Amino acid sequence: MAIKLNINGKVLTADVDPDTPLLWVLRDTLGIVGPKYGCGVGQCGACTVHLDGQPIRSCQAPVSAIGAARVTTIEGIGATPNGQKVQAAWSELDVAQCGYCQPGQIMSATALLNSNPKPSDADIDAAMSGNICRCATYTRIRAAIKRASGQPVEA
Ligand code: FES
Ligand code: FES
Repeated sequence: MAIKLNINGKVLTADVDPDTPLLWVLRDTLGIVGPKYGCGVGQCGACTVHLDGQPIRSCQAPVSAIGAARVTTIEGIGATPNGQKVQAAWSELDVAQCGYCQPGQIMSATALLNSNPKPSDADIDAAMSGNICRCATYTRIRAAIKRASGQPVEA
């Protein structure tokens, strides 16, 4: 079935089973491979994208449920003001280690700043708790979110 999707500001069509999770459609059908497959069951956050600005686990969202909502992936988040700040802070503080979880981390961090421009450590820990990093970059992630929000970063 041909399904139209608004992804990173472009309308794309995918001819897929309507039950297919969005993550598979992005990666396997449309070649948008920034969102990563980690657990496939909504537990790791590697597949996080935004749906009308809200973070969702794309491995858990049937493509038929997306409708006309705007999907933003890591490929498009740099075109948003907070996405740009988060990506710059990530680069300045050299957050990534292997990098696998980082697209999902950046999507969750950007959504946090969209709803809370000056998050505390507790706010950050709560918002980021669903994004798992096997390389344990959590301290640098927290520092980069502080930097992106214009707050002092502890050395
Ligand atoms: S792959 Fe979607 S939450 Fe882990
Ligand atoms: S940087 Fe390696 S999994 Fe997070």
